[in-house]
Amino acid sequence: MNVKEPENQYLTNNPSEIRGVIFDLDGVLTDTAEYHYRAWQKLADEEGLPFNREANEALRGVARRETLMHIIGNRQYPKEKIQEMMDRKNRYYVESIEDITPNDLFPGVLQLFDDLKQAGIKIAIGSASKNARTVVQKLGIADKVDAIADGYSVDRPKPAPDIFLFAAKLLGLQPAQCVVVEDAAAGVEAALAAGMFAVGIGPQSRFPRAHLVLSDLSGVRWDDLQAKLSRIR
Ligand code: BG6
Ligand code: MG
Repeated sequence: MNVKEPENQYLTNNPSEIRGVIFDLDGVLTDTAEYHYRAWQKLADEEGLPFNREANEALRGVARRETLMHIIGNRQYPKEKIQEMMDRKNRYYVESIEDITPNDLFPGVLQLFDDLKQAGIKIAIGSASKNARTVVQKLGIADKVDAIADGYSVDRPKPAPDIFLFAAKLLGLQPAQCVVVEDAAAGVEAALAAGMFAVGIGPQSRFPRAHLVLSDLSGVRWDDLQAKLSRIR
C-alpha cells in the first residue's frame, strides 16, 4: 500500500527540530557561579592553597570533587580531609545562597522562559550542582521548568555528555532536538558530546567550539535565537 504522508508530517516529526532547551543554572540563570568561586577562594585561603579568579575560570561548571582535586593539585591529603574540605566549601556556598530571591534571576531569563512556553518548547535545568534544586526554588522558577537534572542525576560530570542526555530523556526528547545554554567551557563540550546545539554565555574566547555565543540572556528572544540556530544545522 502506498500511503502518502501529509506534507507537514515530516515537519512536526522532524527529529532535529528544536523541541527543548536545557539551561545550565550557575552563571546562566543567576550569579551563583560567583558564589561558588568565593566559597572555593575562602577554603583555599584557609588551607593556604594557591587559587584565584583566573584559576577559577578553568573550574567553571566543574563538579565539587573534581574542583577540589584541581585546587589541591598533587598535594596529598587523607580522604577524610578531602571530604571535610568539600563539606566546608559547601557550607560556605549554602550560606551564600540563603538569601537568593526571584530578584536574583539574570535579566532576560523570565522573558525567554515565557517565549519558550508560548512556542511549546520544553525547558530543563542541567546543572552539575547538588544544590541546584534549592537555587531553582529560591529563584521561584520551579513551576516554569519541565525537568531538573542535577548533581545527583549522573555519575560522570561535565564535560561528559551524561547530564544533558539525562535531561533530554526526562523531557522525552532526542539529543538533536535540544539546545544547551551554558556559561562553562566544560558544559559546552558536554553539550557537543551529547549531539546538541551549544550556546555559550560569556566572552567569545571562552567558547571556541560553541554554535553560538551570547554575552548574556538580556533581551534574548526565542524567535531570534531559533532563527540563528536553524541557520547552523
Ligand atoms: C556547577 C558550578 O553548576 O556546580 C560549579 O558551576 C560547582 O562551580 C558545581 O562546583 C557543583 O556544585 P555543588 O553545589 O554540587 O558543589
Ligand atoms: Mg554554569
